[in-house]
Amino acid sequence: MRETHIDISDLVYPIFVIEGENIKNPVESMPGIYQYSVDRIDEELERINESGVSSILIFGIPEHKDEKASEAYNDEGVTQRAIRHIKGKYPDIIVIADVCLCEYTSHGHCGLICGNEILNDETLEYLCRMSVSLAKAGADIIAPSDMMDGRVAAIRGALDENNFINTPIMAYSAKYASAYYGPFREAADSAPKFGDRKSYQMDVANVKMAMRELQDDIDEGADIIMVKPALAYLDVIKEASQRFDYTIAAYNVSGEYSMVKAAAKMGWIDEERIVMENMIAIKRAGAKIIITYHALDVARWIRVN
Ligand code: PBG
Ligand code: ZN
Repeated sequence: MRETHIDISDLVYPIFVIEGENIKNPVESMPGIYQYSVDRIDEELERINESGVSSILIFGIPEHKDEKASEAYNDEGVTQRAIRHIKGKYPDIIVIADVCLCEYTSHGHCGLICGNEILNDETLEYLCRMSVSLAKAGADIIAPSDMMDGRVAAIRGALDENNFINTPIMAYSAKYASAYYGPFREAADSAPKFGDRKSYQMDVANVKMAMRELQDDIDEGADIIMVKPALAYLDVIKEASQRFDYTIAAYNVSGEYSMVKAAAKMGWIDEERIVMENMIAIKRAGAKIIITYHALDVARWIRVN
């Protein structure tokens, strides 16, 4: 009689790959999550394979950062090398590549800057180069998370021009300027060095605006549209799922994960029951795909129950 179910195939697990050798760095604010160097990433991939989760979202952390995010579109960059390795050794894992410049820029913003201003249009070309480079490395899906206007159309064009006509785009369409990304910025070493992301991410108070952003990305050629964060924005997921006949992804972000892990560690909540309730809530609201740091645990709980 249950109306909502979680399947292991709904889940996407984020991973962090860092430049260097023999590294497995715990992310302090996200218990259970690590940054791995490429030579040690197999440990994580084996865990993923055993869990039954078949999709990952990859974030790269380069050693060299500069104003123009050069490593983002370097074919020999850490993310590109990681993707080549993963697709070579684990071809069945679906690799979704996050596309954004903030892990690669010295200033930590998602686009190029001039003074204190983010340059929307100039950034597009760099996002295109990054997307093509990641697709060449073997990424199955390109996921722009930068929130620059017009990036989905630009990236679609660039992918098509380079014969990646069958590479889908999962767009972070309704991405809010949220405090819930705090722990991620430690994990990805991507905190802005000045200011905030409010000039390009959405105001947490706006829903109509979210619908416009989702519609724009559909019009520009997105194949999957995303709402992010998930739990504080279930109303946005719900409205999007009723309005658009498109696959909706929800990102259960780092802060949402850390709060659960912290309370569970204190013994204040039942981790498994809370997490499964959260997963059900996100699906009940209308998301089909759930990106979550809990993915491997959820898969295990689904299998044993
Ligand atoms: C990069 C990016 C962010 C997240 C995913 N891609 C951070 C941000 O915009 O600051 C957040 C993910 C999370 O908090 O788990 N733009
Ligand atoms: Zn970014």
